[in-house]
Amino acid sequence: MPAVAVCRQAQLEDVEPLYLMIENYARQGIMLPRSRAVLQRQIGDFVVAEVDGVVVGCGSLCRLGEELVEVRSLGIAEGFKGRGLGSMLVEQLVKEARRLSIPKIMALTYEVSFFLKNGFTVVEKEIFPEKVWTDCVNCSKQHCCDEIAVLKILD
Ligand SMILES: CC(C)(COP(=O)(O)OP(=O)(O)OC[C@H]1O[C@@H](n2cnc3c(N)ncnc32)[C@H](O)[C@@H]1OP(=O)(O)O)[C@@H](O)C(=O)NCCC(=O)NCCS
Repeated sequence: MPAVAVCRQAQLEDVEPLYLMIENYARQGIMLPRSRAVLQRQIGDFVVAEVDGVVVGCGSLCRLGEELVEVRSLGIAEGFKGRGLGSMLVEQLVKEARRLSIPKIMALTYEVSFFLKNGFTVVEKEIFPEKVWTDCVNCSKQHCCDEIAVLKILD
């Protein structure tokens, strides 16, 4: 039988798989870590991808201002990449931004081609006001950030 993939709002039961997945990417330096307590508090901002009932991906939206949200903690477990699940999560997060009437969605990433395929364009980090970088103060790379900023304007 073909695998059944769904994208849904995260729930408190998802905290542990989300924690482990994000921790795994954080160890590789491609995501910021999130504690279980933070995940519990922010679970309403997360969506998950499930394959045959198992959580294999996640992503979240963080509001940075009246007009801007950031995609954070977007990841698909090894072995499940390249099947359209990451795009499905981004689509869901874009839908959520639209529902909230927020016109701009951005991300800081190393996966530029993935975001280009999903309708984002590369922009200068400097176009975002410094005060929006709430997360960066906790990042070890804050003074030598090599991530690329990507942006999608929603109509
Ligand atoms: C980036 C990531 C979320 C993409 O998820 P995914 O499920 O593998 O992506 P999809 O299968 O939806 O890919 C969509 C398209 O992008 C392409 N793509 C996916 N990853 C890519 C990559 N690393 N480089 C170039 N293209 C990529 C796919 O080929 C596909 O193109 P197609 O539709 O023409 O075949 C996943 O690779 C990942 O978890 N990476 C590590 C964590 C990370 O860096 N997250 C981003 C933080 S902002």
